Amino acid sequence: MEALSSLIKVSLANYIQNLPIPDSFFGILSLSIKDWLYMTPFIGGIGYVGFLTYRLLRPSQICNPSVNKASKKVVDIIDIEDMTSDKVSYCRCWRSKKFPLCDGSHNKHNEDTGDNAGPLVIKKNS
Ligand code: FES
Repeated sequence: MEALSSLIKVSLANYIQNLPIPDSFFGILSLSIKDWLYMTPFIGGIGYVGFLTYRLLRPSQICNPSVNKASKKVVDIIDIEDMTSDKVSYCRCWRSKKFPLCDGSHNKHNEDTGDNAGPLVIKKNS
């Protein structure tokens, strides 16, 4: 623990204190290759922390929050001949409690997120 403490309190502090950070933006142009090499771990560390922060704070990319999550892929096959009514609405927002059928949950989802999801409506010709 003492070695880690020394590394952080002494070595890291010295490293940061000696970084050749220019006083102005155009001072970057006067940095030597040796300066850039010296700053590489610092710039890499800042970039890595920025990347981790972005990964932590970015909006979720998942469109299906709860339907059949144990499955690797959710597939529903419906035979159109089995339709009992003239019109059936299928969910495309993944929020329906009756998935794959639409239960109107897309309205709350759209209100909450500003999205514009709606069902796929299949009608029989009569
Ligand atoms: S509930 Fe998902 S589209 Fe209607």
